[in-house]
Amino acid sequence: MKQGAIALIFVLCLGVAMQAYARPAKRFDESTKTCRVLDDGPLEWESSSWGQGGKMFKSLCQSCHHPGNDKGASFLWVESKTSKAWNRVFTQKYPQCAKDGSWQSMTMDQQLMVNDYLYRWAKNSADLNDNC
Ligand code: HEC
Repeated sequence: MKQGAIALIFVLCLGVAMQAYARPAKRFDESTKTCRVLDDGPLEWESSSWGQGGKMFKSLCQSCHHPGNDKGASFLWVESKTSKAWNRVFTQKYPQCAKDGSWQSMTMDQQLMVNDYLYRWAKNSADLNDNC
């Protein structure tokens, strides 16, 4: 019985560890035509929830897109979309807020970093093959 429980805990831990490693390591950015390496160097840290990308998503996007906001914005978090769908948000800039000037206070670099963060931790991103 005890051994069974230990084996189960081991399998669970292994699963969690493997998921952490399966995050996309690179992101091809359409707008700048560059390959951004997310699992090595400064971008690895910056595309985490505690790094610049994660913090900027909270301050620049979730300032409106949080539950119960009064801006008429739907609740958005990192797993609201797949990696590819997040890329489309930033390359096509189709959302109403991107068109009405709500993104104007963000620099291109900041947008790239928020995009990196969302891409890396998106819904089903563990299944994604790196695209560059
Ligand atoms: C000033 C408030 C505001 C800010 C800041 C803002 N948005 Fe929006 N956003 C809106 C509103 C209002 C809409 C239209 C209603 C809706 O669909 O949520 C919208 C729509 C969207 C949509 C389409 C809705 C959907 O579920 O697909 C996406 C995607 C989006 N925003 C992403 C972002 C991202 C990413 C950022 C940060 C870079 C951001 N928004 C910053 C207000 C804002």
